[in-house]
Amino acid sequence: MLTKAPRGTKDITPKEAYKWNYVENKFREVCSLFGYEEMRTPVFEHTELFKRSVGDTTDIVQKEMYSFKDKGERDITLKPEGTAGVVRAFIENKLYADTQPTKLFYMTPCFRYERPQAGRQRQFHQFGIEALGSDKPSIDAEVIALAVQFFNEVGLKDLAVSINSVGCPTCREKYNAKLKEYLDSKVDVLCETCLDRKDKNPMRVIDCKNPTCQENIKDIPFMIDHLCEDCSTHFDKVKEYLTEMDVNFVVDKTIVRGLDYYKKTAFEIISNDIGSQSTVCGGGRYDGLVEQLGGPKGLSGIGFAIGAERLLLTLENNNIEIKNPQATDIYIATIGEAAKIKSFKILKDLRYNHISSENDHLDRSIKAQFKYSDKINSKFTIVIGDDELANDTATLKNMATSEQTTIKLSEIVKELQDRL
Ligand code: HAM
Repeated sequence: MLTKAPRGTKDITPKEAYKWNYVENKFREVCSLFGYEEMRTPVFEHTELFKRSVGDTTDIVQKEMYSFKDKGERDITLKPEGTAGVVRAFIENKLYADTQPTKLFYMTPCFRYERPQAGRQRQFHQFGIEALGSDKPSIDAEVIALAVQFFNEVGLKDLAVSINSVGCPTCREKYNAKLKEYLDSKVDVLCETCLDRKDKNPMRVIDCKNPTCQENIKDIPFMIDHLCEDCSTHFDKVKEYLTEMDVNFVVDKTIVRGLDYYKKTAFEIISNDIGSQSTVCGGGRYDGLVEQLGGPKGLSGIGFAIGAERLLLTLENNNIEIKNPQATDIYIATIGEAAKIKSFKILKDLRYNHISSENDHLDRSIKAQFKYSDKINSKFTIVIGDDELANDTATLKNMATSEQTTIKLSEIVKELQDRL
């Protein structure tokens, strides 16, 4: 037990960490191109925040949250997603008082008590953005375009972008009535979960994975066919702007999303190669949430989150290789104690001049030191022994070409600066 990480969590060792750095840097870069700035919020929040935003009837809130009482008897939850905390922080820090929209991005661990499998963990990471303060369809298009450009920049060009509209309270009310009527006629063939959802959150029935339910609700009414004029115009505009930006998308009526705060635009970006956990990115508009969480009236929001683990899996499955940028400039192999002592001065000079360098810490043989130099991918190796110290000269070996040059030890910084 002591040497096993909790189920559903994973260590990110140096063999993987450089890949994380790469995708994180790319995400920062693309967010910055679109004018999004970083927001960091706590890993835990008051449980009530998620109940009110993600929704009381959702699987996340009902089954998946890591909730506990802290020592002060407060109800605390490790964040299962990034949006609620960002919206809470937007209100608390009065970011709405600045010129709008407020365009934020984040990279955060999230926690959901789910059955672990490839691309599904209990601690996972989200890269997300939230654009608050605009209810215009242009920002919906911008948010989707940002996700698409990010995927493009990391080498994923063929992901499927599916969009839908889940309506607003006005059209949803009428649609829900229709939906309930339809589902009431199906009570004999629906599973327990669907029967429960029928009354609490009928649109979620569409998301049921049970094949019998799916077979029996083939002619279920979809929200998008019952949009009010405002929602319909909004959705048309989003499509128009996306088309103008050459974003390939399909309209998928079945997208309902598993969180309660969505209104109007909802979207998912799918990769078909991780098996059942194929949604790499999910998002949508959440007008009304700011007010629902105690903020000012009339402030809209839209965003998405990408599952970082799923992103890395997708890259791997598409054979997109991320190169490890870590390469030591020079390895200093030493023979004897005098050379070892001298190597510390050289190392200090090199590192202060931003030339990365390493030496032996295990009193290895010269052969083993060369082997290690190879393993750490060093660009050059130099051997220093008593003779080199006495003559102030040593042989510098270029590890890629095996070319050897004699250099003055006392000028090693300059010699390397010329070569790197
Ligand atoms: P979500 O669809 O619940 O949306 O999660 C977003 C993404 O997080 C998923 O598409 C998936 O890639 C990843 N993800 C979710 N659960 C897991 C898990 N257990 N293991 C690994 N990856 C997972 C949200 O969370 C919304 N807050 C997105 C959003 C932002 N909507 C508006 N703004």
